[in-house]
Amino acid sequence: MFDAKITPQVIIYYSEVNIWRKMANRVLKEFPEYVLGQEDFEKEVDWNKVFGRCAPLHIEIGSGKGTFIVNQSKAFPEINFLGIEWASKYYRAAVDRIGRWAIANARMLRTDAAVWIPEHVANEIVSQYHIYFPDPWPKARHNKRRLICPANIEQFHRTLKKDGIINIATDHKDYFEWMLDAFSGFMDKFEKIEFIRGAGAKDGEMVGTNFERKYIIEGRKTYTLALRKK
Ligand SMILES: C[S@@+](CC[C@H](N)C(=O)[O-])C[C@H]1O[C@@H](n2cnc3c(N)ncnc32)[C@H](O)[C@@H]1O
Repeated sequence: MFDAKITPQVIIYYSEVNIWRKMANRVLKEFPEYVLGQEDFEKEVDWNKVFGRCAPLHIEIGSGKGTFIVNQSKAFPEINFLGIEWASKYYRAAVDRIGRWAIANARMLRTDAAVWIPEHVANEIVSQYHIYFPDPWPKARHNKRRLICPANIEQFHRTLKKDGIINIATDHKDYFEWMLDAFSGFMDKFEKIEFIRGAGAKDGEMVGTNFERKYIIEGRKTYTLALRKK
């Protein structure tokens, strides 16, 4: 017999699934003013040109369907937000949501952040990185694809301003331990701070992303890590 409990989280999850189904049946709109294109930058991005103003820059890596970047950029209009998403389907959904809300301080970029950041983000320009539920690549032979690794931490450190922050959440215990190990070689350059909850996080949530909501329903714990550049 089917014995699912109808909890508030289940209701939130299924209403999100329904919204997503409706989106899938609808034509996603193109919003060229909310995306970075190859023509927008040469070697390093001119952020004042991209956003039409000078403001602190936050970068989210792996924005998925854009739930975090939409809520966070609406809550903090004084900050410029760039979302980087590799998967075309999710990237387009995030652009669609930002465009329909006409969020002036958010942009999306479709690329592999690990390849793009070293080439296009200048030294000491980012105020905060947001990395929520990055792909865990659980098989040992795929571990090398994990976003959090010494080479990428080096890039986060180079591009962060002094006092800049990396805010990370994952449901994956093994990846979390891998992250702690990867950061252990950098603790002369970072200090641990309290994790900063997302503006859209509801009761019992740390960030308020689609994956977090799915994992809460599955009873999975969220591990968080936040570091400030010394
Ligand atoms: C598990 S999902 C989490 C999505 C969202 N942060 C959430 O919590 O709902 C991970 C996302 O990161 C994206 N991603 C993984 N590696 C990436 C990379 N190197 N650059 C940009 N996006 C990446 C994937 O395409 C996927 O959409």
